[in-house]
Amino acid sequence: MEDVIKYINENRETFINELKDFLRIPSISTLAENKKDINDCADFVMGKLMQSGMSRVEIFHTEGHPIVYGEWLGAPGKPTVLVYGHYDVQPVDPIDLWESPPFEPTIKDGKIFARGATDDKGQVFMHFKSVESFFKTVGTPPLNIKFLIEGEEEIGSEHLESFITNNLDLLKCDAVLISDTSLYAPGVPTLTYGLRGLAYMEVEITGPNRYLHSGTFGGAVGNPVNTLAQIISQLHDKNGAVTIPGFYKDVVKLTKKEKENFRRLKFSEKKFAAELGVAKLYGEKGFSTLERIWARPTLDCNGIFGGFTGKGAKTVLPSKATAKISMRLVPNQDPNKVAKQFETYIKKLAPKYVKVKVSNLHGGFPSMTSIESKASIAAAKAMETAFGKKTVFIREGGSIPIVTVFAKKLKAPVVLMGLGLNSENLHSPNEHFDLNHFHLGIISSANFMKEFSVK
Ligand code: BES
Ligand code: MN
Ligand code: MN
Repeated sequence: MEDVIKYINENRETFINELKDFLRIPSISTLAENKKDINDCADFVMGKLMQSGMSRVEIFHTEGHPIVYGEWLGAPGKPTVLVYGHYDVQPVDPIDLWESPPFEPTIKDGKIFARGATDDKGQVFMHFKSVESFFKTVGTPPLNIKFLIEGEEEIGSEHLESFITNNLDLLKCDAVLISDTSLYAPGVPTLTYGLRGLAYMEVEITGPNRYLHSGTFGGAVGNPVNTLAQIISQLHDKNGAVTIPGFYKDVVKLTKKEKENFRRLKFSEKKFAAELGVAKLYGEKGFSTLERIWARPTLDCNGIFGGFTGKGAKTVLPSKATAKISMRLVPNQDPNKVAKQFETYIKKLAPKYVKVKVSNLHGGFPSMTSIESKASIAAAKAMETAFGKKTVFIREGGSIPIVTVFAKKLKAPVVLMGLGLNSENLHSPNEHFDLNHFHLGIISSANFMKEFSVK
């Protein structure tokens, strides 16, 4: 391993420069105008996989964005690891809040700033470079490697599930390795064993058949914006719990042991609040902050619009109002079941004087992975060696819906070895990735390959 690590250390700057090329491609999956960039990005990934030493690299076209697959199976008798990640990124708005342009990677204080830096291009790239380092030094990696890099993660991985179902042999493996989560704190090696699921809904309220003068009609008809606000305000009770009937029915309660493990992680509510610029934290009564984020379901309004939202004042009674509402789910909640419960409840809450339309935009199951699998143990050791510290095990509040599909369809343990930080502004302006973590991630990845190759 010495030679491999030496190569990684010597090429630190080269790897960063290559990552910059990846970050320059505006591969925003949700916007039609970026379709060419998405295709360019898939081509870029293909090129980097070939450069890393994969013997077969292929782009699979879907009805959505392309899936890039790569493999090197030159270690017969050794285990096979499937590395999953995504090359698509979130939109950049609000653009005014970026201190450097989102697709002109900029290094400041040891961090690289760009859309996709931490979510997920920087983290995907670590594995490309770790694999390359074996080929460039000791000849070949110590196990078989497959890569599956998709372009639709940020829009719900719509076409990946059927791709997996239709290609079970191609994707057959002994473990799935994913770097698309966060470290518990800077410099602390971390494995994530639980992610929340998601049900993403849209509620549209329609009142009168056109926009009305709010003086000549105000008082005579229900205002959709007022009505939507009333409905939203009834979705939580005074203890911060969600009021949808049946919402908590399938929620698995935290065990004493897990509660104790959460408590043992150093966590300062005060520091957390200060960092977010709030005077006080808020959440469901009876639970700690880590419990609220990692192990309790939530409901949040992501955006709300309707009526006049321009500068100045305009007296108008709007005809429509819309809210985007997401629910984060925990084991064993089912996103389809929750979506139905939500729809029924919203329709019940809506007064007769408005029309209401509820749509289910996308969803995903929550996931839990074993921390006792051979792959998890290898990953914990790999990180420990790279960081020189003991690995901690955490759950996370975010979602990677495809994780349960991997577990169910490929029947392989999933390892979530994320190197990001939740403070790195993912999905937000000034997204960045700590270059020290990038470097340690490449070493962790290489250590994992070695560690997991030993039967
Ligand atoms: N990488 C994130 C998920 C994540 C981030 C998990 C940090 C744990 C810690 C992923 O790209 C993401 O943003 N997922 C979406 C889900 C999706 C269906 C749009 C999410 O969680 O909102
Ligand atoms: Mn991601
Ligand atoms: Mn994301």
